[in-house]
Amino acid sequence: MNSSDHNHGGPTSPLRPAARHASPGATLPLAVRVEALEEDLVGIVGRPNVLSDAELRAPYEVDWTRRFAGRCAMVARPGSTAEVAAVLAACCARGVSVVPQGGNTGLVGASVPPDDSGTCVVVSTRRLSKIDPIDKAASQVTVGAGVTLAALQNAAAAEGFAFPVDLAARDSATVGGMVATNAGGLHVIRYGAMRQRVLGVEAVLADGTVISHLGGLLKDNTGYDLSQLLVGSEGTLAIITAIRVSLVPETPHRAVALLGLESTSRALDVIDKLRANLPGLQAAELFFEDGLALVRSHARLGPPLARAYPVYLLVEVAGRVDCTDDLLNALTVLDLPEDAAAIGVDTSTVTKLWEYRERHTEAVSAIGIPHKLDVTLPQSHLPRFEKDLRSLLAGRFPEATLVLFGHAGDGNLHVNVVGPDPNDDAVDEAVLTLVASFGGSISAEHGIGRAKARWLGLSRSASEITAMKAIKAALDPYGILNPAALFAGA
Ligand code: FAD
Ligand code: MLT
Ligand code: ZN
Repeated sequence: MNSSDHNHGGPTSPLRPAARHASPGATLPLAVRVEALEEDLVGIVGRPNVLSDAELRAPYEVDWTRRFAGRCAMVARPGSTAEVAAVLAACCARGVSVVPQGGNTGLVGASVPPDDSGTCVVVSTRRLSKIDPIDKAASQVTVGAGVTLAALQNAAAAEGFAFPVDLAARDSATVGGMVATNAGGLHVIRYGAMRQRVLGVEAVLADGTVISHLGGLLKDNTGYDLSQLLVGSEGTLAIITAIRVSLVPETPHRAVALLGLESTSRALDVIDKLRANLPGLQAAELFFEDGLALVRSHARLGPPLARAYPVYLLVEVAGRVDCTDDLLNALTVLDLPEDAAAIGVDTSTVTKLWEYRERHTEAVSAIGIPHKLDVTLPQSHLPRFEKDLRSLLAGRFPEATLVLFGHAGDGNLHVNVVGPDPNDDAVDEAVLTLVASFGGSISAEHGIGRAKARWLGLSRSASEITAMKAIKAALDPYGILNPAALFAGA
């Protein structure tokens, strides 16, 4: 069998599940079914790709934040769509639940086993790592779900294209995981999130059925868009095995400015002005004095500017030709004090300036296990939200350290709270309720996962949730796919 053979494993595959209509064999005790399943999976993916030893399972059982962990019976590592189909059919037939996992960089606890029962199977997609040749005429490429973001970006760059969704976890996050979470990242203001890049997916439903729509047609109104339905589905509807994405022309010239500012309101005002004057603006990232101090001490970095400011805004432009003058001209109209901006135009300075922003996540994790609350607010409410958030935490959670940063150009703040017990979600409830009172979303880009399932109703109406559950029940009638994600108590 080929490894990573997008488009294989469809209706004619010899591995196509025989158990499509079989109900999960739930009559035997779960432990007996799980034991039998191990033999099934060894028969499908081979012994080396079924990890049941505790030491080998361990990295798949705890999430990136260390806040969420569990135990699985085994990790299965299929190497093709056909193998994913057979693995899911076997799990379905045995009535054993499955947690899909890509790079395990997700931040809402949905990529790891939900409890310590040791009865689920983690299906790792990392071996689905094939990158097809780039279709230059269409500016598209089909990649396996296990391809990392960095590998996709490098493959695109080698042919004069770019894959413009970007995030700091680029070396580990997989394209499949990014589709499943509708990842946003650093360039949403210019290029949108994953949803905007996905032209089609191949995926395997809970019973092993393969659905594939990888043609990449720009116009294709032929019924429900199942590919887009899977964007942001967090492993609850299907395992994505391959993705057709659109690329953009490479923009090799980048220029970055790190600005020191007096307030969040001023940062938003700067973003508005830059948006109007800089068509190549692709990032507008916000952080604060205390977050910068944390990053500097964690990463041993010097100060970016001659003096400290309460608020920092990192902006980036990129283009086919040198865009330094565009950036400098746009900054001139802002009337900033001379020493309030650090400019980077060569790769090394650009990288150094980005470190102050990108290293926030690891710096936060270095001081404890964070409550990570990724939220969006209507842009105009950001300053008031920030003020209310700080006083809420100071009043109700005096032991908390707040580290706030995010994609201000998208109204997206990352609220990181370290101090309160990671197992106590009172702080999550308080912050998410505050967000909802501003008309915000409790998840901007990381998803709901396990971390926020209890509060889905703060952002979605009861009828929306009922409709979502109907879709889940139709595609995964036995509820075996990522059962703890998205819906509380599902
Ligand atoms: P995983 O963590 O393995 O899984 C995430 C979810 O997707 C789980 O629910 C899982 O079940 C499901 N899943 C994974 N693969 C598949 C598949 N093939 N089919 C179906 N379901 C699947 N996120 C952003 O949006 N923007 C950022 O800027 C950003 N920056 C980050 C920076 C750091 C340092 C870190 C650690 C994380 C960051 N993230 C960011 C979060 C994370 O990288 C994204 O959520 C990413 O999309 C997860 O990809 P993954 O392959 O690691 O998925
Ligand atoms: C980021 O923007 O850096 C990420 O979404 C990660 C995080 O929230 O820590
Ligand atoms: Zn982010």
